[in-house]
Amino acid sequence: MNLTTAKVITNEKLLNGQVRPHARSVIDSHLLWLECPEIAKDARPGQYIMVRCGEIILPRPFSIHQAKDGQIVLFFAVWEGGKGTNWLSQRRIGDSVEIFGPLGNGFSISEGARNLLLVAGGIGIAPLYYLAEQALSRKRKVALLYGTADNSRYREFPKDLELVAATEDGSVGHHGLITELIPEHARKADQIFACGPLAMYRSMARMPELKNKPVQVSLEVRMGCGRGVCYGCTIKTKSGLKKVCEDGPVFEMSDVVWDELGL
Ligand SMILES: Cc1cc2nc3c(=O)[nH]c(=O)nc-3n(C[C@H](O)[C@H](O)[C@H](O)COP(=O)(O)OP(=O)(O)OC[C@H]3O[C@@H](n4cnc5c(N)ncnc54)[C@H](O)[C@@H]3O)c2cc1C
Ligand code: FES
Repeated sequence: MNLTTAKVITNEKLLNGQVRPHARSVIDSHLLWLECPEIAKDARPGQYIMVRCGEIILPRPFSIHQAKDGQIVLFFAVWEGGKGTNWLSQRRIGDSVEIFGPLGNGFSISEGARNLLLVAGGIGIAPLYYLAEQALSRKRKVALLYGTADNSRYREFPKDLELVAATEDGSVGHHGLITELIPEHARKADQIFACGPLAMYRSMARMPELKNKPVQVSLEVRMGCGRGVCYGCTIKTKSGLKKVCEDGPVFEMSDVVWDELGL
């Protein structure tokens, strides 16, 4: 784990408006490229970094969206009233940002798994994009189910990826929730990976089609320290209490006690 000062290479406003169904609204979304070779060289899909956002005391966690050539990319939603994400969205080329990472366990692709199904809800695409790139480079077949509120979506995907879209307003792909498409795609998947809101996970945890499938989910909880010190990110699993920052953020879906989780 490295504590480093990263230089902003680019900070691109990508999307306007709502990215995922949520009580609070998203102002826009950004792709932020940071120069940080120490973190880029060690990063794995599903890991995250903590970002110090100016004078705000608690650092904020963000998934590593891509890592290459000494740079990492973050893809983040800017929340209305969100101090950290608003601060980060205002960084300019050449600015310095204090970060530490890579943190967490990350996703793990099984040796024998040939057909991978990735399920992204809204900004949950952030870590799954990186996983898709890695899986394709390891000659796996990858299908990505990507659900968003509307068509203000992420546009560029790795070639060779089978992309299946769903929008809540019906503007692109299936009209409805991405979870409605999981059963038919789950059958041919050897392994499933998901990142999205709690409602998506709760729905997945109830699906009979996923009962005997290995499913890894990345949990987005509020974090205080990101170092295993504050216990603010503790969740209940079937194998006891776990800290999302250190033991996660990726967990086996069947291990999480969903009824007692309030993210
Ligand atoms: C491991 C991990 C990886 C993550 N990766 C990404 C990523 O790649 N891209 C991304 O956009 N986000 C990601 N997040 C979420 C991101 O950390 C939060 O959106 C961010 O910390 C919000 O900070 P803020 O200062 O803008 O909001 P705050 O000022 O902290 O919050 C303002 C208000 O919003 C509420 N709030 C804050 N965040 C959320 C939330 N996520 N859901 C519901 N209510 C919330 C707070 O309770 C508070 O009331 C990740 C979280 C974790 C744990
Ligand atoms: S965020 Fe502090 S222990 Fe996990």
